[in-house]
Amino acid sequence: MAKQIRHAATTVALKPKRVDVLRVVDGRTAKEYSIPIQLGAIHAPDLRQIRVSDEDFGLMSYDPSFLNTASCKSSVTFIDGATGTLRYRGYPIEELAGKRNYLEVAYLLVNGRLPGKNQLADWLHNITYHTMLHENVKKFMDGFHHDAHPMGMLVSTLAGLSTFYPEAKEVQNVELRQRQIHRLIAKMPTLAAFAYRHSIGMAYIYPSNDLGYAENLLAMMYRPSWTTDYTPDPVLSKVLDLLFVLHADHEQNCSTQAMRTVGSSHADPYTCSAAAAAALYGPLHGGANEQVIQMLREVGSKENIPKLIRQVKGGRRLLMGFGHRIYKNRDPRAEIIKKVAGEVFAVTGRNPLLDVALELEKVAESDDYFIKRHLFPNVDFYSGIIYQSMGFPVDMFPVLFAIPRMSGWLAQWQEMLLDPEQKISRPRQLYVGPRVRHLPAAPNPTPPG
Ligand code: ACO
Repeated sequence: MAKQIRHAATTVALKPKRVDVLRVVDGRTAKEYSIPIQLGAIHAPDLRQIRVSDEDFGLMSYDPSFLNTASCKSSVTFIDGATGTLRYRGYPIEELAGKRNYLEVAYLLVNGRLPGKNQLADWLHNITYHTMLHENVKKFMDGFHHDAHPMGMLVSTLAGLSTFYPEAKEVQNVELRQRQIHRLIAKMPTLAAFAYRHSIGMAYIYPSNDLGYAENLLAMMYRPSWTTDYTPDPVLSKVLDLLFVLHADHEQNCSTQAMRTVGSSHADPYTCSAAAAAALYGPLHGGANEQVIQMLREVGSKENIPKLIRQVKGGRRLLMGFGHRIYKNRDPRAEIIKKVAGEVFAVTGRNPLLDVALELEKVAESDDYFIKRHLFPNVDFYSGIIYQSMGFPVDMFPVLFAIPRMSGWLAQWQEMLLDPEQKISRPRQLYVGPRVRHLPAAPNPTPPG
């Protein structure tokens, strides 16, 4: 029966809200269940009512690697893999890229809206204010071996920062949480540049607060230590900033999941970010751009592409920079990167690996193996070529990915903390080991002789 609501002059009949349900029949008991569907999903704990007996724990869903499980409700980033759509807080990536700089996008991700003039001024002030590192962080960095991978240094120093800011433990304190967000976004370029300078045995260059975010990174990495007179190329600074916008967030990917999972135990954001950066380091995730360059170098020229394709189709290796868990169409970020490549090459000269990459994409586009599996170039396929042309060493590529992803990690971490539905992350398992085993009876102790 429709409910009625009485207003001063009229009586309005309110239609009962339609609840979509999934009706399932348990073949074991012939019982029927109605499970509500919300936002296109069922609530997995609702399956627990499906039981064969009172002692039964209830039905679980089995989903290794989360192929079809939403672990949260989020309003940060939207991806439609079928159409190749990416939006941050509703804004299409194509509209943001080139029109809003990275720090504006970082504000958008963290706060849910683009900053007004005063908000932007405050945000820039707060980020700039926190770019310096404690002097002891330098000592910490000095302890790494000269050829330590910069991503290993980044992961460790991020975790190390937690010991410098013990207040960060108070994750429910709004003001303190904001301060750590400013610090983390601010310090990423400094940590990255210091890791680089350490790896080439050069003196660290301190941040310059009059430079833009990407520009500052370039200056800290490349400024000769004997001069303060160094201005990074404006085209390269602009393109790097755009790459940062493209990499800022990507909903529930492996590293974001690590951030949320560790954060769900209420660990401080430095520790969570170290976990997220560690996840990003892997060659199947943010480490892929490093692998792409190695692969393209190995191929060397177009003539060797058929051999690589044979190896890939024979299941002997992966085509690095291809494929994506969500995109089964073109990755919009890769398309934008391809468009700005020309601007970079006008400054740096054309990267010969680009010709190999373009040809590889062409071959893959017309090959059934890739067509059937919906394998397209992902963001890592072209970003590595641009980074390499800009002079970044290959082992800095995952670090360059981690710098802007920090804002996405923090936006997702904060969302998780404020979400009343979230609890400590703790999946179930299907135990398939031995039911119970007993140790063999102990041998009789040897009598003392
Ligand atoms: N080269 C060749 N074959 C591939 C590739 C690839 N790069 N990626 C997937 N496939 C094949 C798989 O072998 C599988 O084939 P099958 O059905 O015959 O077994 C099919 O395509 C489906 O692939 P899955 O492994 O099920 O896809 P999944 O979603 O688990 O993996 C991933 C996604 C990890 C990105 C994968 O495509 C891959 O390893 N790509 C190469 C690494 C890479 O570029 N990573 C960066 C991803 S983007 C990012 O993290 C920023």
